[in-house]
Amino acid sequence: MFTIKPKEEIDFETNKRLLNRYRFMEYEMLRILAGWLPATARMESKLAMGRLLWEDAQHVQHLYQRLREVQTPAFRPPGDPALERLMAEAIHAPGEWELLAGLFRVLKPALVDAYRWHLAQTFANPDAPTLYALKHILLDEEEHIGWAADALASHPVGAWEAYIHDLLLAAGGVTGMGARADAPAPSPVRTPFVAPREAARDTRFRLVNEQAGQVRTDPDVATRRQMEFENYSQEMLAAETVALVIYLSPQMPWAFTYDSARHCYDETRHCRLGIEWMAQHGLDYTQVAQNTRIYAWRSQYDPATQYAMLTMGNEVHAFPYRHESIAAYQQVGDQLSIQYISYDMADERQHVAYGKKWLPELLAKHGIDTPVQQFIDEAVARWEVEYRSGRLPIHNL
Ligand SMILES: [Fe+2]
Ligand SMILES: [Fe+2]
Repeated sequence: MFTIKPKEEIDFETNKRLLNRYRFMEYEMLRILAGWLPATARMESKLAMGRLLWEDAQHVQHLYQRLREVQTPAFRPPGDPALERLMAEAIHAPGEWELLAGLFRVLKPALVDAYRWHLAQTFANPDAPTLYALKHILLDEEEHIGWAADALASHPVGAWEAYIHDLLLAAGGVTGMGARADAPAPSPVRTPFVAPREAARDTRFRLVNEQAGQVRTDPDVATRRQMEFENYSQEMLAAETVALVIYLSPQMPWAFTYDSARHCYDETRHCRLGIEWMAQHGLDYTQVAQNTRIYAWRSQYDPATQYAMLTMGNEVHAFPYRHESIAAYQQVGDQLSIQYISYDMADERQHVAYGKKWLPELLAKHGIDTPVQQFIDEAVARWEVEYRSGRLPIHNL
């Protein structure tokens, strides 16, 4: 009988194993970026991290959609202790620059090499959905590496990056098919990561809590408008809370992390929207004090309470003010401000929907047995008393 030995290096079983490794690495990178977003001080990095983690979530989604066609369950550990150690270690960087260098100068370039090789070595027609996924993931990953080349240009390769490189070699590379080096000892610069209870800011910013959470309905449209966009430039605080909730909720289903990655990204976009509006009006956003006390206050609560206060407190209650703003800006013919707020409100409607969708499961997964509506009512009541008053008490819970 006439048979042909395939020239492709990736067979069906290997394909499943590889896609699962990629999915695992992309997912862990998303979680690491979420954990570090509040702990990172440089504002430009924080703004980028919202986008980067959401794009990594897109990659997980692509790989998940393919994996669920070829294996059940689609989400599973990679079954390689060396790879699991690599991704468990990558979060314990000594600082924000080292963290980004490990992810963007070691892991992502290695992933890009693996994706390119995979594109050439899987069965092109039978595995076409994988090709489609990898081709699109590569567009982002190549851009991520380019972003890091600029952002980290003045940051030399250090001990941490070398450690991540050695851990990757011990796992046989991204594919696990390379020669495996001995596992490295823990790096002397390794710094155990702790979920941040404070939001870091770089030295350009003042940190004060005057007027935190207060809503002023100033009759002067120009003043109202400037305050509104100054407040947008503070929305990193919302991104930081969503990032912390993602990081503290690994037991939640993938769909929650996927929605929350978008939620986090949106808040960094709202922050940037405020920054851009201010720049367009000759104002420097770094002159606006950052009320990081809001994050410190919210982060003292369990993740479900934080999420309830954000989605059912801040986000549900923002709409009347925004509608008033649009009416006021229509009166003065300010199309730019109306456009920005319209897009913001489209996002915020989604965020409220996320809150309604995910709070029941978030409570369950965090072991809270209070009835859902009662829990929400209590969280919003606490938000009214503690946030809207501007007091933001820290209770040392
Ligand atoms: Fe927002
Ligand atoms: Fe929001």
